[in-house]
Formats: sequence, C-alpha cells, structure tokens
Amino acid sequence: MLTTGPRGTKDILPDISYSWRYIENIIHELCQQAAYQEIRTPIFEHTELFLRGIGETTDIVEKEMYTFTDLGQRSLTLRPENTAAVVRSYLENKLYATLNPAKLYYIGPMFRYDRPQAGRYRQFHQFGVEAIGAKDPSIDAEIISLAIQFFQRLGLNDLTLQINSVGCPVCRPIYREKLQAFFKDKLPSLCKDCQSRYERNPMRLLDCKNEKCQELSQGAPHIIDCLCEECNDHFEKLQGFFKAANIDFIINKRLVRGLDYYTKTAFEIEYKPLGAQSAVCGGGRYDGLIEQCGGQATPAIGFAIGLERTFLALEKQNLLPPKDDSIKIFIAPIGEKAKEVAFRLVYELRSAHISAETDYLDRSIKAQMKSANRYQAEYVAIIGEDELLNNQVMLKNMKTSEQELVSIDDLKNKLVDKAGEKKND
Ligand code: HAM
Repeated sequence: MLTTGPRGTKDILPDISYSWRYIENIIHELCQQAAYQEIRTPIFEHTELFLRGIGETTDIVEKEMYTFTDLGQRSLTLRPENTAAVVRSYLENKLYATLNPAKLYYIGPMFRYDRPQAGRYRQFHQFGVEAIGAKDPSIDAEIISLAIQFFQRLGLNDLTLQINSVGCPVCRPIYREKLQAFFKDKLPSLCKDCQSRYERNPMRLLDCKNEKCQELSQGAPHIIDCLCEECNDHFEKLQGFFKAANIDFIINKRLVRGLDYYTKTAFEIEYKPLGAQSAVCGGGRYDGLIEQCGGQATPAIGFAIGLERTFLALEKQNLLPPKDDSIKIFIAPIGEKAKEVAFRLVYELRSAHISAETDYLDRSIKAQMKSANRYQAEYVAIIGEDELLNNQVMLKNMKTSEQELVSIDDLKNKLVDKAGEKKND
C-alpha cells in the first residue's frame, strides 16, 4: 500500500514533466493570444454545486464523484469537472461586472471514480475554456476553433470535429416525447441503466455503450430534426462560420453529452487511434447553467480537453519534444576546501541566472566528468589543489575540449562573455 498510489492515479515523473510544461506553455500562449484569462478555482467544492450543475441523473453524479464529509459536517466533492465551479466563481466574484463576455481558461486535475484503463483515469487533467455572457454563434465558433488550434499547435492531425445541437427548453420537451414514444415498446429489452434513463434522461438512451441498446436505438428520432427556429438558426450560423474559415466538421446527429447542462451546440473532438477513449475534447453551450446556479440568465459555452489523452495522441504521432535539461556549467571540486569554493560559485552563478550544478557525493574527478556529461553541461570548471592555491578554475569547453585557467572572480563574467560570443557567431 505504502509504495503504490491509488488506483487510477499516475505520477508525472521527471522524464515526462517537461512535456507537461511544453503543453502548458502552448496553452498559456494560445489563450493569451485569444484574450482568455486564467482562472484557478479550488479542487473541492460543495457537493450541491455538482448535483445541481452537472445533473443528478448523470453517470458522473450517480456513480463517479469523490464525495466526503469534512470535520465540520459539510458535504464536499473533489471536482469531477470544472465548468460548474467556474460558474460558481463567476457569480461569487461578480466577474460579470468587469468581464463581458468573461473569457476564462483553466488547467488542472479533475477526479472521477471511473473504471481505469488506457486514457481513462480517476485523477486526470483538463485544459478547459469557458466564455460566459455571449449568445451569438460566433463565440461558439471561436471556442471550437480554439480547441482545434491547440491541437494544431501541437502538430496533431487525424482529428475529427463532430458537432450537434441538443436543443433548448423550447424544443427539447417535444423531442423527449418523440424519443420516449420510439423506445416505449423496446423498454423491456433495454439494459437496466437505460430503463431508468427512459424516464429521467431519455437523451442518454442514444449514448449507451451496451450493444443491444445500440441496436435498439437504430432509427431513433434525432433532436436536430426537431429543433425550434432559434436553435436551428444558431446551428446553421455556426456551420457558416466554420465554412468561412475552412474548418472541417461532421454533423453527428447522435452526439449527446454526459452532462445535463448543455443547450444548443454540443461538440467533441476525436482522435480515433486512441480506440475506446478517443474523445480528446468535449464541450458545448450551457445557456441555463448560470441561472440554475442562482445568477441572472446568462448564455455561455466552453470545452475541456483531456491532457492525458492528448499526451497519448502525441506519443502515437511521435510529437513530444526532446527533453532539454542541459546546464551551462558543472563545477567539479576536488577535496574539502574546493567544495566550499564550488558551493560559493554555484550560488553566485545561479544568482546571475546561469544554470550551474556541482557534486554532492564526493565523487572522483572521472565520475564528476560523467555527471557533467549526463547534465549535458557546456562547461566544466575543475577546482583542484593547484587551482585552489591560485584562486583559479580549469575551465573546460565540453564540446571542443579546449581548456583554460580562469580566475574564480572572473568566471561569471567569462561565461556571460562566452554566451555573447556564441550569439554573434
Ligand atoms: P467531459 O466530456 O466530461 O466534459 O470531459 C472533457 C474531456 O476530459 C474528455 O473529452 C476527455 O478527453 C477528458 N476526460 C474525461 N474523463 C476522463 C477520465 N476519466 N480520464 C481521462 N480523461 C478524461 C467536461 O468535463 C465539461 N466540463 C466540458 C465543458 C466545458 N463543457 C463546457 N465547458
């Protein structure tokens, strides 16, 4: 137990953490360029927020939440997603007073008691974006295009954008009735989950993974054919924006999302080679959520991208950048007194923003040269007995093997000069 992490969790080890930084840098740059601002909300929230926000009949709320009672007898939940929490924060901090639309993004861990498998974890990370306050389909197009641009910047291709409209409180009840009528005599043959979905959340009948249920749902009516005029117009205009910018998409009439807050636009981006867990991004419009959480009726749309799945896709396409943790200089002291000088030098060089490392294990000079190579050090400064007496180091260029004696007091300036020479090369 003590040497194994909880099921469905993963350590991000040094050999991969640099890739996370690479992806995070792309996210920050992209969002800054598109005028989105970062928001960081707590990892746990009042359970009530998710019950109301995500929907009590969803799989997430029914089966997947990490809920606990704290010492003050409050029911809290590790966030299974972050849209509800961003909405809570938007209302609590009155962001609507200064940001309209509020264009927000986040990166962080989410928690779902899912059945772990490749691409599906109990703690996973999302990059998510929410635009709150605009109802025009142009913002739907912008949000979706941002997700596409994120994958483009990573160099990923073979992605498919699928869109659908899930209607609104005007057209959905009519569709609901049609759907229930379609499934009525099939009800006894549906799986247990679907039997309970029939009353509580019939649109989810289309999303069941059970083969028999999938078979029985063939020929079911599609919401897209039952949209009210406003939803239809919104969906048409969204497609117009995609066509104008040459963004490829597929209309997937069966696309329904696993969270209850969606209205109008719903979308997913798929990377098929990932197999069963191929959805790398999911999102949509949630025009009713802000009011449901106690605010004024406010339209909104967003998405979340699964970063572990993005990593799997990058690995498949061999697109992870090479690791670069090279340092400028390795200080190699020989003997006790030299160690003090080495410590001082490392301290001063790092203060001057020059990357420097030394030996802490009293290694022989040969072993220290090996360490320097492992660090891909550009230079090694050897401090032996003679050097110490003369207040010097033997500075070795690891590429050319050239060596020169340099005064300890000049070392910092020398490295700065050399950096300048290199630039002028
Ligand atoms: P979601 O579809 O539940 O949407 O999750 C978005 C993405 O998170 C998925 O497409 C997938 O890549 C990743 N993901 C979900 N569950 C797991 C898991 N157990 N392990 C690994 N990755 C996972 C939402 O979360 C919505 N909040 C998106 C949104 C934002 N809608 C509007 N704004």
